[in-house]
Amino acid sequence: MASEKTLRELFHDTLKDIYFAEKKILAALPKMAKAAQSEDLKAAFQKHEAETEEQVARLEKVFAEIDAPPRGKTCDAIMGIIEEGQEVMKEYKGMPALDAGLLAAAQAVEHYEIARYGTLKTWASELGLDQAVKLLDATLSEEKKTDEALTKLAVSEVNLHAEAA
Ligand SMILES: [Fe+2]
Repeated sequence: MASEKTLRELFHDTLKDIYFAEKKILAALPKMAKAAQSEDLKAAFQKHEAETEEQVARLEKVFAEIDAPPRGKTCDAIMGIIEEGQEVMKEYKGMPALDAGLLAAAQAVEHYEIARYGTLKTWASELGLDQAVKLLDATLSEEKKTDEALTKLAVSEVNLHAEAA
C-alpha cells in the first residue's frame, strides 16, 4: 500500500522547492546588479544578495530541524521568472526602460518567495516546528521589506527614468 502523504511531507517538498529557488536567485542577483543602470537599484540587488546568502543558511537550519539533508528540487516557477528577467536584460539592453524591467522581474521573484515563506511558516507552526517558524518568519519579513524597498525605488526613480529618456 502506498504510504499516505502528510503535511510534513508537503512541508519538506516545499522546503526543497524554495531552497532550489533561493540558490537560483543567489546566482541571478549579481547579474541583475551588473545590468542595472541606476546605482540605487544596483545597491538594492547587492544588499539582497547578501540577505539571500543568509536566507539559504536559515533554510539549512530548517532542514536540520526535520532531520533532512538540505537538498533542492527543481522549481519551474522560479526558473520561468528568472528567465523572464534574462529576456528583459537582453531585449532592453542600453534602453531607458531596462531598470524598470529588471525591478519588475525582481518583484516577481519577491512575490513568489513571500507566497512560499508565508505558507511554510503556517505549516511549520501547525507541525509544531518552533525553530522553523522563527527562521521562516525572519526571511518572510526580509522579503517583504525588499519588496517595499523596490516599490519605493520604482516610484521615486526608476520608472521616471524609463519615461523621461
Ligand atoms: Fe529570498
